[in-house]
Amino acid sequence: MALLEIVGLKLFYKSLRGIVRAVDNISFQLDYGEALGIVGESGCGKTSLANAIMKTLPSNIDKYEGKILIEGVNIVELTEEEVRRKIRWKMISMVFQGAMNVLNPVIRVGLQIAEPLIIHAGMNKDEAYSIAREKMKLVGLHEELFNRYPHELSGGMKQRIVIAMALVMNPKIIILDEPTSALDVSIQAQIMNLLKRLKKELNLSMIFITHDIALASDISDRIAVMYAGQIVEIGLAEQILLSPKHPYTQKLLKATPRLRGEEKPDFIPGTPPDLVNPPSGCRFHPRCPYVMEICREREPLDFELERNWRTKCWLYGGEHG
Ligand SMILES: Nc1ncnc2c1ncn2[C@@H]1O[C@H](COP(=O)(O)OP(=O)(O)OP(=O)(O)O)[C@@H](O)[C@H]1O
Ligand code: SF4
Ligand SMILES: [Mg+2]
Repeated sequence: MALLEIVGLKLFYKSLRGIVRAVDNISFQLDYGEALGIVGESGCGKTSLANAIMKTLPSNIDKYEGKILIEGVNIVELTEEEVRRKIRWKMISMVFQGAMNVLNPVIRVGLQIAEPLIIHAGMNKDEAYSIAREKMKLVGLHEELFNRYPHELSGGMKQRIVIAMALVMNPKIIILDEPTSALDVSIQAQIMNLLKRLKKELNLSMIFITHDIALASDISDRIAVMYAGQIVEIGLAEQILLSPKHPYTQKLLKATPRLRGEEKPDFIPGTPPDLVNPPSGCRFHPRCPYVMEICREREPLDFELERNWRTKCWLYGGEHG
């Protein structure tokens, strides 16, 4: 059994403009100790997918359906109370996008790490503080920093604090939503090294969300490419990087000079689609250089290229494949 299995997950929001189809029929699995990178342009639904998996949902939900099986338990069907008691932070936790900027400015960072242990796990202060100190060491912070306030720490240190907060209940899965995008390149590299070490030492499973496919490739065993609320290609990181199959994955890689040596970056024409009124058929068709008639009319199926490698594109299946 996979540690995490997601089947046909949908998360739609109500808005004044209409229904926003932010996560639209997504399926994938995650194994023990595995890192899955989720990449795609801004607005393609990465954070919505993460919130759907954590069941941290806003109030304007139109639809939330499908299966999210964690060790076989479907959390979509659990009550909020059950998720809080058994799943969230304990089995699966998350470093939210921009979390280091919303640390409570008036509470010492060590106490912010310890707080859930006291409030939710019913520990006494001494036990909770000692675990918080241990987690600070685990993420490479000196325990002397326990009594500091967030504004006394650098960006890299604050990011380590939020990672320690996510690890405080020893989850098996951690979702990291753009964990390094606000940091300088050198600090970004240190955080990536920390994440790689945690993955190995704790056999931690990760969902690493980023718009930067080069960064994702640094840590991910597999990569899922998202476009307009859907996964358009998923496979081993080497497969995706060396022989991308979906035209959008190809464009995304060409737009990333760091992975392409001398070649000049090539920009993806057009803009990502509106998730209220996505294009008919294949959602990428208005921007795709290989568009065919069928692409405008019918949504592509998921075609398997090899075991564990699939893409949502008519070039690889049906009468056109
Ligand atoms: N609570 C909400 N209500 C309505 N629409 C929302 C809500 N949250 C997000 N959206 C919309 O859903 C779509 C997907 O947003 P999401 O934040 O998941 O994208 P993202 O891939 O994480 O983008 P970024 O890379 O900028 O973080 C966007 O069109 C966004 O405006
Ligand atoms: S289905 Fe058609 S439009 Fe969509 S990516 Fe494939 S070739 Fe391009
Ligand atoms: Mg986001």
